[in-house]
Amino acid sequence: MANYIWQNGKLVPFEQATTHVMSHALHYGTGVFEGIRAYELANGETAVLALPEHIDRMFISSDPLAMTIPYSKEEVCKAVVETVKANQLKSCYIRPLAYYGLPPTKVRVRPDPKTPVEVIVYSYDMGDYLPDVALDVKISDFIRLHPQSTAVGAKICGHYVNSLQALLQISGTKYNELIMLDYEGYVSEGSSDNVFVVKDGVIYTPELGTILTGITRKIVIGLAQDLGYKVVETKIKPEELYSADEVFFTGTAVEVRAAGTINDQTIGDGKEGKITHHLKTEYLKICRGQNPKYNHYLTVVK
Ligand SMILES: Cc1ncc(COP(=O)(O)O)c(C=O)c1O
Repeated sequence: MANYIWQNGKLVPFEQATTHVMSHALHYGTGVFEGIRAYELANGETAVLALPEHIDRMFISSDPLAMTIPYSKEEVCKAVVETVKANQLKSCYIRPLAYYGLPPTKVRVRPDPKTPVEVIVYSYDMGDYLPDVALDVKISDFIRLHPQSTAVGAKICGHYVNSLQALLQISGTKYNELIMLDYEGYVSEGSSDNVFVVKDGVIYTPELGTILTGITRKIVIGLAQDLGYKVVETKIKPEELYSADEVFFTGTAVEVRAAGTINDQTIGDGKEGKITHHLKTEYLKICRGQNPKYNHYLTVVK
């Protein structure tokens, strides 16, 4: 349990980090957030993975909501580090959130320009988000948000009603994760992760446009290319999942996870494939500071 939350410029005890019931975001989903991980390094220090990249995305996500985050990116990065430090966490998940708070006037979808933008940073010891096994995956009946309905590349709170409904559909079943198709029927992404497909040694992943601009996706694409794999960003048909040698997910929370089955059809031999295993191992080395080439992704908590 986290003891402190950074709220609007200062660390406050967890119980005191409250907000007003008439906060705009509570009514309309008008917040933007990030999911970040910090890892314990071999030398016992803690480092936040891809911190500037996440905070950059948070600011980009705020644009479609015409939201001005009242801190600089550097200040929010500093707030993340302070929060991890204050909670004395060796490794953890970190949740920065910026949202429209209590409007000075009436209830309106378009927030009064004087509506404050509140910022918080929470952190806790998450552990594994999904079990470390080859996952049973369902192709969801829910499609991913239409790119002409909202800025799908942004991490906006309200978008997650789509993920939640898809997740509720598999809750209580054997499925651990789902894949949503886009409005044209192509593979888009999971509930909180991006999708990769391996066929004949080549790695394919859905192109940007109907998916979140995943930071783990970007790190894994770069890593795979550095390791000599060919990576192709393209449209992927659901049938191509079934005939793939391997399918895997990437995300800050899930890290790298293999799909064992999709809609009950076995992928490869149903276990974590060779390339997935290779990328997962190398990705975790980056997270733990065991590959100096990628240390630029690490912000040490001091
Ligand atoms: C819908 C969705 N897609 C993909 C991802 C993976 O993004 P990242 O690698 O930046 O965590 C996430 C997690 O943030 C997500 O919620």
